Amino acid sequence: MAQTITILGLESSCDDTAAAVVRQGEGAAQILSSIIYGQTELHSAFGGVVPELAARAHAEKIDLCAAEAMQRAGVSFEDLDAVAVTAGPGLIGGVLSGVMCAKGIAAATGLPLIGVNHLAGHALTPRLTDAVAFPYLMLLVSGGHCQYLIVRGAEDFKRLGGTIDDAPGEAFDKTARLLGLPQPGGPSVEAEAKAGDPAHIRFPRPLLDRDDCNLSFSGLKTALMRARDQIVAQKGGLTHADRANLCTGFQQAIVDVLAEKTRRALRIYLQETPAVPLLAVAGGVAANTAIRAGLETVCTEMGVTFTAPPLRLCTDNAAMIAYAGIERFRLGARDDLSLAARPRWPLDRTSPSLIGGGKKGAKA
Ligand code: KG4
Ligand code: ZN
Repeated sequence: MAQTITILGLESSCDDTAAAVVRQGEGAAQILSSIIYGQTELHSAFGGVVPELAARAHAEKIDLCAAEAMQRAGVSFEDLDAVAVTAGPGLIGGVLSGVMCAKGIAAATGLPLIGVNHLAGHALTPRLTDAVAFPYLMLLVSGGHCQYLIVRGAEDFKRLGGTIDDAPGEAFDKTARLLGLPQPGGPSVEAEAKAGDPAHIRFPRPLLDRDDCNLSFSGLKTALMRARDQIVAQKGGLTHADRANLCTGFQQAIVDVLAEKTRRALRIYLQETPAVPLLAVAGGVAANTAIRAGLETVCTEMGVTFTAPPLRLCTDNAAMIAYAGIERFRLGARDDLSLAARPRWPLDRTSPSLIGGGKKGAKA
């Protein structure tokens, strides 16, 4: 019979300060509490996350957040088996705040400390929400990350490819800025795109000529800027229809690229002959209806089940860190007070490194 494990998880690698308590016994894991203090307002005037401001806000909030998560869960330190914390990859000042808080708790209580890779947190979420069995294919699409991973075990990931420059969420955010739409850019570009004519502007589909699972989104943003400037030069400004057409063209290019690269990633993954072939997505961009529909179509075509965790668990949160901590704890992993905060931390050290780093921090 599986031992019941209760873990406090901390997350502070980007612009959300989060803490959660997750418990798992014999069956599915239970999220006893999950607290998130977002920083959207703090950074809104700057058009992106300002690392120093983020770090200071994390340092102010992380211990309060941990205390609140424990109080809401109704647990004390004696009820915990360990404290898990995001130890990277991410904005280093923020990661340090979480790691220092977790070390403080471990030193004061004697609880084991478990460092968790933020990407592993996202990648293992389908097991927290749907008890999915290994192996499955994960597409992580957020403001900071974009990669295909075959998840073979809690510490066994095979990266098939990823972005070589911007993440798709970053491209949505930059596009919104170029068109004077509010941040975060994803939801505002998606809303604007609904009114656009998909046949009006066709943007390039980067890297589709290369037979691999790597992606690139920074050229798309430049193409959009050129198209915008051309319209402005001709007409003296953008009409609502122009803006909508630009958004539709941009979004459709991302939908098509993700659909085709997913097809390629699925072909490689299916060679592992999983009992129930499954594609799971995580990250804020997975909220996009057109992108989801594109991925679901590819999955139907290839006889693969498609799953997306609820949005609050798709985006950054600490429940995924606590859960990944439970998986690592069961495998016997323990860290000590020498645990390092890491700006870069690839999940799969055997695959070649992908160059690039964006506004939301280093890509792993
Ligand atoms: O996973 P997330 O909350 O944070 C990190 O990046 O870590 O993702 C946020 C990103 C932002 O870039 C945001 O613009 C994008 O997800 N996003 C979307 C949508 N909703 C959020 N992108 C496209 N369509 C959406 N509906
Ligand atoms: Zn994330």
